[in-house]
Amino acid sequence: MAFALYSLNSYVYFLLLCSSVFEVSCLETSVPTKYMKFHLNTGDIMPAIGFGTYLIEGTELIHNVLDLALSVGYRLIDTAAFHENEEDIGKALKVLLPKHNLTRKDIFITTKLYPGTGAEKAYEALEQSLKYLDCEYIDLYLMHWPGADRENLSKSEVEKWRSSVWQQLVRGKRNGLTRNIGVSNFNLDQLKELLANDHGVKPAVNQIEWNPNYHPDEVVAFCIVEEGIVVQGYSSLGGTSNQDLLDHPEVKKIAEKLGKTPAQILLRWSLQQNLAIIPKARSKEHMEQNIDLNFNIPEADMSILSNFERKKHDWDPDTVA
Ligand SMILES: NC(=O)c1ccc[n+]([C@@H]2O[C@H](COP(=O)([O-])OP(=O)(O)OC[C@H]3O[C@@H](n4cnc5c(N)ncnc54)[C@H](OP(=O)(O)O)[C@@H]3O)[C@@H](O)[C@H]2O)c1
Repeated sequence: MAFALYSLNSYVYFLLLCSSVFEVSCLETSVPTKYMKFHLNTGDIMPAIGFGTYLIEGTELIHNVLDLALSVGYRLIDTAAFHENEEDIGKALKVLLPKHNLTRKDIFITTKLYPGTGAEKAYEALEQSLKYLDCEYIDLYLMHWPGADRENLSKSEVEKWRSSVWQQLVRGKRNGLTRNIGVSNFNLDQLKELLANDHGVKPAVNQIEWNPNYHPDEVVAFCIVEEGIVVQGYSSLGGTSNQDLLDHPEVKKIAEKLGKTPAQILLRWSLQQNLAIIPKARSKEHMEQNIDLNFNIPEADMSILSNFERKKHDWDPDTVA
């Protein structure tokens, strides 16, 4: 197995190697990264590298960017109700799928429930996303945020809210509106709480921020090793308008040594730890780099990247209301 969890401690890595869960969720390593897939715990497969669309807005821009992304080979599109671009993505795909000789089943669409949506509105929100995306089903529908965004709720009320929202996502899956359901930004406690009362469906994916400045290793160990939940990293390059990681001297040094770009080093660092990724890019050059990751980062360099200074968000999911 060519991939290893370098940033996790050796005990977790040992478990991972022994885990049958890992066998079903690991990357198929013998193919170009463009075609790599993850096996989800539902039996579905999901491209290992998808295309992020946060802040890509407007009918024309969405059309042009997705046209490029499909031509380069991206087959997973990540959006969210929060992005307010689902409708434009739906319109673009109607034209672009036939243009690229693709059908709906050739692509994987992820979207997400607007943060803080009440349980009574969650099913309706899924129907609305489906309508905007103008398709018969969504491949992956995520609960975007673990908090109810209502300060007057007690901890137990928030837990009850999370459970009721999840129940509606389960209903959406059972009724065929979405093939898979999952969560995003969930920490360990929130995941354990959900799994203790999952209404019969375990999350297929947890989408979390994952880059050298922010990597909750315990969440990845729990999801992959113990529960067979695929972890999909976002903001792998540090996020929009943040050059800190792309300009980091250590990242640049490793990139130069391996003959790759800093972006490729950051993306490969995630992939090499068995995370799926969804980088966003507007130019064809960036899109091409971000999907071409068939190289290995030596263990010593993986370790340097994993030991960067950890940063804290101002929206820490550990303290959500
Ligand atoms: N679940 C959540 O809560 C959550 C939160 C944030 C994001 N997301 C998802 O994750 C996706 C990716 O995260 P992100 O948008 O925060 O940021 P990101 O993918 O870490 O970074 C995007 C930035 O990197 C630049 N870039 C891309 N490829 C590059 C390359 N090869 N070389 C140099 N620069 C490059 C892009 O510039 P150009 O556009 O100019 O190419 C853009 O400014 C989002 O679009 C969204 O779909 C989810």
